[in-house]
Amino acid sequence: MARRPILVANWKMNLGRSDEALAFFRKIRSGLNEIKGVDLVICPPTTVLHQFAELLAPTRIALGAQNAHWEEQGAHTGEISPVMLAGVCQYVILGHSERRATGSNQETDEAINRKLKAALTHGLTPILCLGENLEQNRAGQTDAFVSGQVRAAFQDVEASLAASCIIAYEPIWAIGTGESASPADANRVIGLSVRGALAEIYGEDVAQQVRVQYGGSVTPENISAFMAMPEVDGALVGGASLKPQFVELARRAAAD
Ligand code: PGA
Repeated sequence: MARRPILVANWKMNLGRSDEALAFFRKIRSGLNEIKGVDLVICPPTTVLHQFAELLAPTRIALGAQNAHWEEQGAHTGEISPVMLAGVCQYVILGHSERRATGSNQETDEAINRKLKAALTHGLTPILCLGENLEQNRAGQTDAFVSGQVRAAFQDVEASLAASCIIAYEPIWAIGTGESASPADANRVIGLSVRGALAEIYGEDVAQQVRVQYGGSVTPENISAFMAMPEVDGALVGGASLKPQFVELARRAAAD
């Protein structure tokens, strides 16, 4: 099955001031807009989401948020609900390791499952992040851990909705370190653990429909090797998405 590749720029807590975000976007806009053959998504900080909804409207680039709560409204200081995002952006990153129990926000698998279901209910496409840490990797626990994260995230999610989700396999030890996983290892974990778990839950058809990205120190230099892997349907890019060379990275992602 041919899955259309998708490249997502995760700006994290950078370029959140309207003037700096606009100045950077001007550098990459025309280059990105010419690229065909790969879906492009920019996930800027919440402070500039509305501005980017307008900026991206006439382009072929889609917009994503970096997080959403599971509740529609209420006493959750500082949180953003999926209702607030619906109509502003199309995608939402969920379960990034920087927000999971290991990160600064202590998000559990259960919380991520609730967020995934809420996002889908409100018409947002989740970009679900998962991946093992260094100790788990060294102890040979990667496959069990990653397939467990898939099962937990998709608990009580129906097949047609699951098929529309994006998953980003991001080994924690590869994020922001300059030490990416090898393309062959990423391909193996995505095929065996991510699609394998999806196939157990939903059957092979759905497992083959879900687009699964690799993330963790992706650069213009290594993107082609990841895109050449049959199980890898694109990348979630952090640091390298904050540089004008992101256009070249996207060109190479589309070329495959
Ligand atoms: P990185 O981040 O590309 O800077 O490693 C990836 C991510 O955290 O999504």
